[in-house]
Amino acid sequence: MTISETNDTTAVQASAPNHDGYCDFTLGNFHFRRDEYFAYVTWPTGEHTLSIDDFLRAMQRDVAWDFFYGTVNFDAVVGTVNHYGTVDLFAGQFNEVYRKAERDYVQNFPTPHIRETFKAMLDDWTIEGFDPFASPAETDKPFGVKAGSNTEAVTRRRVTAARMVGVPGDEEIRTDATHPVNRMFADVAQDEPTVEAEPGFEDRVAAFNLFAYLSRSNVTWNPSVVSVCKDSLYCPTTEEYILPIIHGNDRVEWFVQLSDEIQWVVEDRDTGVLRSKVTMRAGDVAAMPGDIRHQGYSPKRSMLLVWENASGELPELIRTGKAPVYPVEF
Ligand SMILES: [Fe+2]
Repeated sequence: MTISETNDTTAVQASAPNHDGYCDFTLGNFHFRRDEYFAYVTWPTGEHTLSIDDFLRAMQRDVAWDFFYGTVNFDAVVGTVNHYGTVDLFAGQFNEVYRKAERDYVQNFPTPHIRETFKAMLDDWTIEGFDPFASPAETDKPFGVKAGSNTEAVTRRRVTAARMVGVPGDEEIRTDATHPVNRMFADVAQDEPTVEAEPGFEDRVAAFNLFAYLSRSNVTWNPSVVSVCKDSLYCPTTEEYILPIIHGNDRVEWFVQLSDEIQWVVEDRDTGVLRSKVTMRAGDVAAMPGDIRHQGYSPKRSMLLVWENASGELPELIRTGKAPVYPVEF
C-alpha cells in the first residue's frame, strides 16, 4: 500500500494496480477493490459486493452532486449521508437486518477527504468507452480488465445557473454544435421564445425553451440547476432506465413529470420498508416527503422537473420536528 501526501487531510490512499489493473482505495476504515465485474467494499464488521456498472453509476452521481441532499444509497447496504461540510460513509446503517445483526458501520469524513478519494476511484475504475452518466443503451460496457480511461466523461461540469439559463453571462442554451437532440426527443419543438424587452431592460429579461433544452441533455438522472430564486431551485433532468442510486430525502422534494413516465418505488428512509409505488405520467405532480427514500424507473427517456428547497435550515427543522416531513395539508 502506498500512501500519498500523508499529512494532507484530502490525501488519497491508493495501492499499486492489482491483478486486473485497478488500484485499491482505502478511506478511513473502509477498503474498496474492483475486478472485472465487481466492486468489493469492506469495513471492520462486514463486506459487500456490487456489480461494477451499478457501483460506478452511483459513484458518478455522488461525486458530481457533491453528495447531494441527504442520503445517497448506492444500494440497500452502502452509501453516504451529506452533513454539508462532512459526509458519513456507511454500511448497513439504513438496513434493518444489518443493524439487528450489529454489522452496520459508519464513519464521518471532512467533505474534501471523501470527495477526493471518490473522484480518484471513479476515474481509475472507469475504462475507455464507459460513460456512467449515459443511459445503458448509449454507452459501452464497464467490464473487464483496466483499459484506458474516460476522464472527460467522469469530470463533466454540472450545470448550475446563478439566475437562469439564457441570462447574459449565465449558463448558455444548448445548440446542435454543443448538444445534439437525443434520439428519443426527435419530436420536441426547437423554437425559442421571442423576448421583447423595454429599452434599458434588454440584459435583464430572458426566456428559453426548457423542453428544447432538456431534449439536448446527454446525461441521465442528473438534476441540473436551470433557475434560482433565493433557495428555490428548479432542477430538471432527463431520465432513462433506473435511477442508479436510492435517494434518501432530508427535505421535501417536488416532482413535476414533464414528459413520458417514471415509476417510483418509495420506501421508509431508515428501514427500507416499502411505503408506496407511484407512477407519474406527463403532467403529474408529486411531493416526495422528507422521511422517505426513492428510486425511479423510466421505460423511455423522460423529462422530470425536480423542485428543490436549498435552505440549509431544513434538515435540522425536520429532524427536531419543527417542520413537517410533508409540504402541505389538505
Ligand atoms: Fe429525493
